[in-house]
Amino acid sequence: MNALAQHALRPGNWLADELTTLTPETCRVLPSGNRMPLLGLGTWKLSVRTVDTLCNALELGFRMVDTAADYHTQRGIGDAIRACGFERDAIFVITKVEPDEDSYTATRKHLAQMRLDYADLVLIREPPEHGMGEMAWQGLRRAKREGLVRDIGVSSYSIDDIEDLVYRTGEMPAVNQVEWTPFGHSPRMLDFCRDNEIVIQARSPLTRARRLNDDKVGAMAARYGKTPAQLLIRWNLQLGVVPIPKANHVTHQRENLNVFDFEILPQDMVRLNALNEHYSALERLGYL
Ligand SMILES: NC(=O)c1ccc[n+]([C@@H]2O[C@H](COP(=O)([O-])OP(=O)(O)OC[C@H]3O[C@@H](n4cnc5c(N)ncnc54)[C@H](OP(=O)(O)O)[C@@H]3O)[C@@H](O)[C@H]2O)c1
Repeated sequence: MNALAQHALRPGNWLADELTTLTPETCRVLPSGNRMPLLGLGTWKLSVRTVDTLCNALELGFRMVDTAADYHTQRGIGDAIRACGFERDAIFVITKVEPDEDSYTATRKHLAQMRLDYADLVLIREPPEHGMGEMAWQGLRRAKREGLVRDIGVSSYSIDDIEDLVYRTGEMPAVNQVEWTPFGHSPRMLDFCRDNEIVIQARSPLTRARRLNDDKVGAMAARYGKTPAQLLIRWNLQLGVVPIPKANHVTHQRENLNVFDFEILPQDMVRLNALNEHYSALERLGYL
């Protein structure tokens, strides 16, 4: 069976608060043993009132946030975790380093900005122009050895890039964060990541809202009594892919969490998979 036709989730009426319990069925276990929620919140272009927006998202049930230095949300993320009274280990924090920077120093800098002792996951943001980001990877490995980060991964890496990185360093990334929607994805990458126990995180999983008015997606979502955004998020979950939709608006945040009470039928998963045209909301899928 094509990997995309498989269901990675068991059927059932899951509630969003399952995101907060992190049982083996409701999380992804990473090489460190750390548990990653099935769904997170992206923070690129999040409201300037980051703390309020994030506190709201955490109270609704989000337990994972994705950031990077140039999102300008790092300080607000640390502040929100503290302001909302969450224990540090209740929230899964992802940040990124640039491929050509001193990633060990950058990780320390990001942690200082968030005023956190560790990150759950640090990613190399993209493959560098030359090479595989081997130096950045070694810096992240050091940060991991020193307890500054629990797991390390990459973003927008192709299969060849990952294989090359592993060949040179001996360490497999825990995660590859890539743009991933029914309109743009890669069955080959899905199979490769499953075979190598790499978690795919879906960035821009809502096409930056550019394709949410697609007729086919809209009609299918209506049949399930759901919105197009919920259908796209659920499609990711059923593939075993971890989406990180960004939403400023409370109604959007709530909607994006409300995806655990329905299941896309196998024939509809096949239809959604067939929408693949390697579309990218960011101009190109970097990992093909
Ligand atoms: N690794 C990388 O280099 C990289 C690159 C790009 C993105 N990312 C990460 O991935 C995250 C998500 O990607 P993204 O921000 O590019 O785009 P996205 O999550 O695909 O889309 C965000 C847009 O969708 C809207 N939206 C959210 N929920 C909605 C709903 N239920 N109904 C209708 N519209 C909805 C948001 O509106 P409102 O905000 O107005 O609610 C916003 O305009 C980023 O925030 C970032 O953390 C990483």
